[in-house]
Amino acid sequence: MSINCLVYVSLANQEMSDKHLQDLLKKAREKNEALSITGMLLYRDGFFMQALEGEKADIEGLFEIIKKDARHRDVLLINKKPIKQRGFPDWTMGFNKIDNKDVEAIEGYTEFLKNPTPEFFIQRASEAEAILDQFKHQLFF
Ligand SMILES: Cc1cc2nc3c(=O)[nH]c(=O)nc-3n(C[C@H](O)[C@H](O)[C@H](O)COP(=O)(O)O)c2cc1C
Repeated sequence: MSINCLVYVSLANQEMSDKHLQDLLKKAREKNEALSITGMLLYRDGFFMQALEGEKADIEGLFEIIKKDARHRDVLLINKKPIKQRGFPDWTMGFNKIDNKDVEAIEGYTEFLKNPTPEFFIQRASEAEAILDQFKHQLFF
């Protein structure tokens, strides 16, 4: 058993309404539950960041599927590493839609949060992790 965490960012191909996001999450959660995959998805203004936790082969297999999803593009792997404990053990896929109010509350991450781009994160895995951590206690949907 080797639990890994994979983090990526991507850009949405269309404006994601709450209905779009809910449909995506419903299917994702069903599949994740079957695979014992947990994690979190953040969405802000056309930008996704997702953490996937689970057996290495399972999250790698899922990532291959997610990469091909027509709902987003420019999918960039930020980090993949073994973890001792899951960060999101209770979430088959936690979700948060970040709005301007949240952005103002988070000091230090404003550059990303004001204008997120995948490129910003290529050299900044720890910042991606810090952002995910920040939202860990504010998951909804
Ligand atoms: C941003 C984003 C995040 C996604 N996250 C997941 C996920 O956590 N789990 C999952 O099963 N599918 C996720 N999907 C959907 C997959 O790409 C795919 O549509 C889904 O797994 C169904 O695949 P299937 O039709 O081959 O069963 C995500 C899609 C996008 C665009």
